[in-house]
Amino acid sequence: MPLAVEQIRRMRGGAQSHLMRCADDSYYVVKFRNNPQGGRILANELLGTRLAARMGLSTPSVAVVEVREDLIEGTEELVMQLGRGRARCEAGLAFGSRYPGSPAETEVYDFLPDEQLRETENLGDFCGMLVFDKWTCNTNGRQAIFFRSPEQPCYRAQMIDQGFCFNAGEWNFPDAPLRGLYARHRVYQSVRGLDSFEPWLTRVETKIGEAALDDAAKEIPPEWYGSDIDALMQLLEHLLRRRKLVRDLIVSAWKSSAQPFPNWK
Ligand SMILES: Nc1ncnc2c1ncn2[C@@H]1O[C@H](COP(=O)(O)OP(=O)(O)OP(=O)(O)O)[C@@H](O)[C@H]1O
Ligand SMILES: [Mg+2]
Repeated sequence: MPLAVEQIRRMRGGAQSHLMRCADDSYYVVKFRNNPQGGRILANELLGTRLAARMGLSTPSVAVVEVREDLIEGTEELVMQLGRGRARCEAGLAFGSRYPGSPAETEVYDFLPDEQLRETENLGDFCGMLVFDKWTCNTNGRQAIFFRSPEQPCYRAQMIDQGFCFNAGEWNFPDAPLRGLYARHRVYQSVRGLDSFEPWLTRVETKIGEAALDDAAKEIPPEWYGSDIDALMQLLEHLLRRRKLVRDLIVSAWKSSAQPFPNWK
């Protein structure tokens, strides 16, 4: 398990994450259990990202990161801004999403201009990720990061922020046509029909079964979900049952007024 040894900087966003260096010189964007979005979003991040990776989608590698009390006490920046005041980030097991390489050498972007976006090497993953986001009822818009190594001309996307899958802390599935879409619909330009969402549809329907879900769930520290095993089991059962809904959910997105797939006639 990576051990955090240094806080580098605060990141943007509602979970008030921090970029941290770990003992093995890896870097992680770390979310703490007492973040304002609730402890369950850590469980969602770990479970969601493991499942997306299992579908063959590009994600950062993710881990449970240990953050010790002495680091938090010695780092003034490691506080949560809460409604009425501040609280120290909670020590213990936190969620980490690995930064690609080191921040000194790799620039990471939340958005790319159209031209670079079009040339992103794995743009097709946005279709696969929509399959995932429909399945898990991600109630936030899809989010990704983009980066490239100096010798490479094209950017690569990695799918981040699975915290609002399963409707954040609710662990229910209020499906709606526009949920889970990436704001820049040009990533869906290659879509010509439901077939454009293969092979991911088939993977969800036939390859990600009970065993895969159990494996991913086993890794989640119980304190991230208040040790409510029943709720977790129910979530997994729900996910298994929902696998067959995904096709219809994508068709509803297609039929919606937002017309996210301009080339699907
Ligand atoms: N693995 C990663 N590598 C590099 N940067 C990352 C990584 N994960 C997240 N980030 C950066 O940290 C920011 C916050 O991450 P994330 O969106 O997961 O948190 P959040 O608090 O839920 O944000 P929001 O409320 O804006 O959705 C992202 O905008 C992104 O720039
Ligand atoms: Mg986010």
